[in-house]
Amino acid sequence: MYNKDSNEKVCYCNNVTKDDIFNAIQNGADSVESVIKATGAMLNSNCAVNNPKKTCCYKDIVKVFNELT
Ligand code: FES
Repeated sequence: MYNKDSNEKVCYCNNVTKDDIFNAIQNGADSVESVIKATGAMLNSNCAVNNPKKTCCYKDIVKVFNELT
């Protein structure tokens, strides 16, 4: 069970954390697309600058989604 205290950032461009994704799922988001919509992740993207991985967060969102569902 997910321990709800993770401020681990997933989408750097839009400041979306693992907690935000957890909450979105709790509130009924049942697909990666609905999580993205509910959290505002990937809305404004400048990942090369904002994300330390220099890449878009999509894969990380999918990973967290799979981990939490
Ligand atoms: S890190 Fe999520 S859109 Fe850039």
